[in-house]
Amino acid sequence: MESQLEELRSRALSEISSASETKELESVQIRYLGRKGRLTALVRGLGGLPEKDRPRLGRLANAAKRSVEEALRSRRAELAARKGDSPVGEGRFDVTLPGTRPRIGRLHPLTRVLDEIIEIFSSLGFTLEEGPEIESEYYNFDALNIPADHPARDMQDTLYLKNGLLLRTHTSPVQVRVMEKQPPPVRMICAGKVYRADTADASHSPMFHQIEGLMVDRGVSFTDLKGVLNLFATRCFGPRVKTRFRASFFPFTEPSAEVDISCLVCGGRGCRVCGSSGWLEILGAGMVDPEVFKAVGYDHRVYSGYAFGMGIERIAMLRHGINDIRLFFDNDLRFLRQF
Ligand code: PHE
Repeated sequence: MESQLEELRSRALSEISSASETKELESVQIRYLGRKGRLTALVRGLGGLPEKDRPRLGRLANAAKRSVEEALRSRRAELAARKGDSPVGEGRFDVTLPGTRPRIGRLHPLTRVLDEIIEIFSSLGFTLEEGPEIESEYYNFDALNIPADHPARDMQDTLYLKNGLLLRTHTSPVQVRVMEKQPPPVRMICAGKVYRADTADASHSPMFHQIEGLMVDRGVSFTDLKGVLNLFATRCFGPRVKTRFRASFFPFTEPSAEVDISCLVCGGRGCRVCGSSGWLEILGAGMVDPEVFKAVGYDHRVYSGYAFGMGIERIAMLRHGINDIRLFFDNDLRFLRQF
């Protein structure tokens, strides 16, 4: 009897200490201390023992019961305390603890500015076109009325490949490719990488991005160009921004203009950023030169058009007050995370 008691007690205790959930503790309790429990049965059996053994065994049985009850109580408390921070694997976790935030990816500042510019022109009905970064001299130069002795063809500006191919120095060849493919009207933009044999410094990069625009139809005038670019400037830089068209020269447009916006920093009064001129140059533009129409087989007596091209890095630098173009390509997360 005594050894039976001892065995039940120690078995109950080990089951209690290995229980990892309160449910398990409940079933241990029922198994040993319930109405039909093993310890209960044993205590009941005391009645059939000889009178002289009863008090001693009764005390032992009570002590065993109490120690099992006590073990149940303290194990319950332990499990309850652990509930708060028990690992997820056990099916519980503390929803009040601060979590580890997942690092959220973000778009590159150039992609964001580009997406915005594309959005502005698509809302005006411009289609989005694409062209190759590896170009022929024909598309990059000849068809754009850039003669063979033009300085833009100089080895210093153009990165030449084998077989007369080159890395496009601007996105204007895409104009030619699109016009070759379809008759007027054309209303397109195109964006992408361009390459120039420049040494990288704060304002130069051998690779940068341009966005090009072309509109061709009957009766397109310089006024249309001004209207579209003015709208672009206010949508991109804010309603108070002013534009200025300065006469300029590009072989593929005539007349040509360089377009400035009023300085975003000083509002036009003159400061360090605009070199005290009050203006910041943002793009080149003009009316498509009849020579370009001839190259693609458009009748320049019937159709006219305008074109413009701008550097996306430049726009992004002006928008965000970035003073070094190389920051876009260093991939320093401290820079990229600011956008
Ligand atoms: N292609 C010119 C450049 O890279 C920009 C431009 C495009 C100018 C279209 C006029 C018209 O500088």
